Amino acid sequence: MCGIVGGVTSKNITPLLLEGLNRLEYRGYDSSGLIVLSNKNTFNRARSVGKVANLEKKLKSRSKKINGNIGIAHTRWATHGEPSSLNAHPHISKNSVSVVHNGIIENYIELKNNQIKQGYKFESETDTEVIAHAIDFEMKSCETLIASVQKAVMSFEGSYGLGIISSNFPDRIIATRKGSPLLIGIGENGNYIASDQIALLSETKKFIFLEEGDIAEIEINKVTIIDIDGNLAKRPIVISKIKADQSDKGNYSHFMQKEIFEQPQAIRDTLESRITNDSVISSAFGYEAEGIFKSIKQLQIVACGSSFNAGLVAKYWIEDIAKIQCSVEIASEYRYRNPILQNNTLFVTLSQSGETADTLEALKVAKKINSKVKSLCISNSAESSLTRLSDLTFLTHAGPEIGVASTKAFTTQLVSLALLLCSIGKLQKKIDIKQEKEIVIGLKKLPGLLNETLLQESLIKKLASRFKDNTSTLFLGRGTMHAIAMEGALKLKEISYIHAEAYPAGELKHGPIALIDKNMPVIAIAPNDELLEKLKSNLHEVKSRGSQMIVFEDEDSKVQPMESMLVVPIISNLGRISAPIIFTIPLQLLSYHVALIRGTDVDKPRNLAKSVTVE
Ligand code: M6R
Repeated sequence: MCGIVGGVTSKNITPLLLEGLNRLEYRGYDSSGLIVLSNKNTFNRARSVGKVANLEKKLKSRSKKINGNIGIAHTRWATHGEPSSLNAHPHISKNSVSVVHNGIIENYIELKNNQIKQGYKFESETDTEVIAHAIDFEMKSCETLIASVQKAVMSFEGSYGLGIISSNFPDRIIATRKGSPLLIGIGENGNYIASDQIALLSETKKFIFLEEGDIAEIEINKVTIIDIDGNLAKRPIVISKIKADQSDKGNYSHFMQKEIFEQPQAIRDTLESRITNDSVISSAFGYEAEGIFKSIKQLQIVACGSSFNAGLVAKYWIEDIAKIQCSVEIASEYRYRNPILQNNTLFVTLSQSGETADTLEALKVAKKINSKVKSLCISNSAESSLTRLSDLTFLTHAGPEIGVASTKAFTTQLVSLALLLCSIGKLQKKIDIKQEKEIVIGLKKLPGLLNETLLQESLIKKLASRFKDNTSTLFLGRGTMHAIAMEGALKLKEISYIHAEAYPAGELKHGPIALIDKNMPVIAIAPNDELLEKLKSNLHEVKSRGSQMIVFEDEDSKVQPMESMLVVPIISNLGRISAPIIFTIPLQLLSYHVALIRGTDVDKPRNLAKSVTVE
């Protein structure tokens, strides 16, 4: 969603703000802006609609340059008020306070009405402007900026990550968060704030992660943090393991392409120090996991988007192989429906970012419903709101994923879930040594198999041209491949803007088959499993209605090609665990190349954000 970066340094802050904004653009954007305090303690602001490049152009064309040692900046993903320069952040109140905000102030209309009565004038339609005015108002009766912020935030309902500067206190930034991520970067030449480590990696690797309700005062060589109860707080400095160049495209045209090709390494990294030659190590999920895993009777997985699709695959694995009940639910539904949560349930959240608002709220709801329930978060982000709130954390180690469309995060989630299956199954004696060995050996082969599959890129690129003028596509699969079909459909719609739906192939005759004609291409996934013959019958049903079909098959599946049906063998002899992971690759590549042909913004598709931190 919105991205925040800011800093107080001995150097000119503007280049750092721009670099941070560029690095944060992947979170979603429709406008951006920055504000810097000049030597004369006046605000200099620039805002622009569209990409950060537009803001850069605007800054270059100004005769009066924006320079100074302290500033804040923002990429906006509109929630309240259309994307426009006036609605872009930073917002200012009476030339005294300026604010950047990630989150939503839910009671902003009530606050706005009061502030209008107090004489404040509004220039935007955003919920954020009330924050600037509220702090300015409190400054009349408070001696310090931090005290004004402390008082002002008491009136806010909703979520916020805030960066605040004031012309009355020109040597400090105030940062505070509730429900939205925010961290402090500790540098050699100054101190910084950001909503994501990536924004600051060129400047520092030392980070302090603010906790819920923390308010921090950031000066050039000092950081003071006050906790939610108003007490002085000590938060640890964490050294980031993310390399600055991991967030660059390298030789690839897009982050998505780079991330697709990083999957063999990402999976190696996910497996590293989690497995021995033939088993999953007992502490893979943390030392407390053993006791928890032994006692659970069922799993409840909650997630959104691709993470939800990964959860669906795991349901098949866990019930089929470990014979433990497993439910999977979309987080935005779970959080609002008064679910029943039995004792001895392991509540599993899956989230690349660890910051998805719906998933976070679903976990909070689960904790409220049954405080005895233990939680595990499988995430790609070590320091995130979800990992902090969970009893157990398992990191996917995929490295930064910048492309909005999830690729390596998804496949490493599947690998992590396979490890979870083994850990729980083994501790509950539902999986024996031989089965575990088979799964582990299969997982170890994955990087090699993925490399082999990625070699098919040029073939898949050719197939993509068929979708150039397409308006709709149907994806079919059975068993775990239904979840992979869902993932394929999600990828196609989010980056190529083609309507796509996934169905379990057996469900076709209950309605969707009515859609099938020569204008409705069908993509099917045909692994060599116990449902293969059933799937083949489904393919005949589709074929006889005139659809143009592409079937990605296991070489051993031997689907008979028919007229208008292209059969693409992927790899032979895939097992139950490796098949869904391998079949994801051609679907990712297909979406990527279709998007390229259609000329969309692959890494930053319209209307989407990488991390959905608002409801
Ligand atoms: O960070 P999370 O895994 O919690 O994000 C969940 C979804 O927003 C995410 O998977 C989204 O659907 C992706 N754009 C899919 O490619």
